[in-house]
This record gives sequence, structure tokens and C-alpha cells, in this order.
Amino acid sequence: MAIVKPVRKAVLPVAGIGTRFLPVTKAVPKELLPIVDVPAIQINVEECVASGLRDLILVTSRGKDALVDYFDRAGELEELLERKGKHAELAMMRRLNEMAQISAVRQPETRGLGHAVLCARAAVGDEPFAVLLGDDLFEGDPPGIRQLLDVYARVGKGVVGLWEVPAGQEHLYGIVDGASVGADVFRLNKLVEKPEPGKAPSRLAIVGRYVLPPEIFPILANTKPGRGGEIQLTDALAALCASDGLYGVRLRGERFDAGDRAGYVLAVLRYALRRSDIGAAVRTGAEKLLRET
Ligand code: G1P
Repeated sequence: MAIVKPVRKAVLPVAGIGTRFLPVTKAVPKELLPIVDVPAIQINVEECVASGLRDLILVTSRGKDALVDYFDRAGELEELLERKGKHAELAMMRRLNEMAQISAVRQPETRGLGHAVLCARAAVGDEPFAVLLGDDLFEGDPPGIRQLLDVYARVGKGVVGLWEVPAGQEHLYGIVDGASVGADVFRLNKLVEKPEPGKAPSRLAIVGRYVLPPEIFPILANTKPGRGGEIQLTDALAALCASDGLYGVRLRGERFDAGDRAGYVLAVLRYALRRSDIGAAVRTGAEKLLRET
């Protein structure tokens, strides 16, 4: 069997305008909306780091520089915290900057997820890489993207993360069909981006986690606009599936759709309930609210 190249890099597309979260996204990128006191993007960055990926590439756009600043060193703030003896906060600031190497490329126009990934081509180079979409937050052990990396190391082909979605929601996702080849692992034979109601080949949806070979780039460069007039990553994956083969892994753990307003609130609540500092107070308050509402 050919030697499988190690995956070191992850691409995080964050160029979207966040229309579902207007008006706040007029001023704040949706990836910086706080899950308690941590921006949503940090949860995915931590997932990468916990999965052994430390070379991260943000695909940003105009008006989203705050995301790059967030992971940059904040010299004055650090000095101030040092002077005030706030050592825990200082350590937290330093860790943010040191846990991963984060760079950014721009997507100059909104031309779809496939185009956003293509914008990272030069930064990724000729090696396999991971992709994490900011709307999907995972809590799992092993972390979501690690589950894909483990399958990738065995099969040496592209792998997408899957989740069984409730009937009637298939039109919101890329949906796959495949043959089971092991516990929660599928060899895919079909991918459809946001199928029309009643036309989905299954209820297995792609949920924002991918490990891809560099061969996806020339395919993306030749992918014509698809659903919504945008260059769809799913369409390029369908071509990769036909030429090279593609796998899917049904993720274990908990998933939050932070791109949906209700899903976002539930994610905040879940993370708050887990916290040792505020969990008990939030539980008491939430139970009271539920009784009274
Ligand atoms: C994107 C992908 C879709 C995938 C989804 C997961 O769609 O195009 O295939 O299922 O992310 O969150 P979006 O939600 O950006 O429209």
C-alpha cells in the first residue's frame, strides 16, 4: 500500500457574510460570536490543535480582519495584564497565540465554499489537508476532525464527516450515499448538494468536516457553478469520488449547528452547563426560566 502523507494543515473558510445573524454580523463576524466567552472559531481551532493540526489557514474576506487580529499577539494588553498581576488571564492570552500557527488568505469575491477552499491552494501546497466549517461545532472524544484523520490514515483517500439528519432536513446539506465498509465508515458512491425535497439518496449529511487530498484543487479549478450559482465543494467531491474514491465517517459525539440561531443558543447553553465556574448557576437559572416561561 502507498505511504499515506501526514496531514498537517487545516483550512477554515470564514469569508461568509453571515446573513442569518444580521444585524449583529453587520459589525461582528459570525465566527466571533461568543460561545459564553470564547468565539465560535476558537472551538474549531481547539479541535484542530487537539487533533494534531497546528498549521491553520483562515480563508477570510473584506471586513473580517478582526478574526485574524483575534489570534495575533496583543502586546499592550499583555503588558497591562502583567503590570496588574493578572497571571491567569495573561497565560490565556499567550496560549491563544501559541497553540497554533494561523495564517490568512483572502477570498476576493463570494463565489461559494468550493471557491473558498480553492483560494487556499497555494498556502496548502501539494499535501493533504483538513477543512472545518465554522457553523458546525463538535464535542467528541476523539475530536471530530481526528475521527476523519484516523480513517484517512487507513484508507489514504479523501474522507468527509457525516451525521444522520432528521427526515425533511436533507435539503439543507450535502447528502451522500455509500456502502458500509466498517463501523461508521462508508465508501461513498454519490454526493448531492442540497437535494430537492424527496430526492435525497439518504439522510447522511456532510457536516463541515473534510480531509482532502491535494488532487481536489485542479478539480475545484474546473468546477462550474452549481446550486445557488456558487462553486460547490460537494460538486468537486463528487468528481473526486468518481476519479479517485472517497470515504465518509459517521461522527461520534455531540454536534451543534451554530449557523442556525436556535442551534447557536443551544450551543451556548450546552457549553455553559459544562463549565465548572458557571455551570451550576446556569442550570438553576435555566430550570427556573423553563418553569416560568
Ligand atoms: C455547506 C456545504 C454542505 C454541507 C454544509 C454543512 O453548506 O455546502 O454540503 O452539508 O455546509 O454545514 P452551507 O451550510 O454553507 O450552505
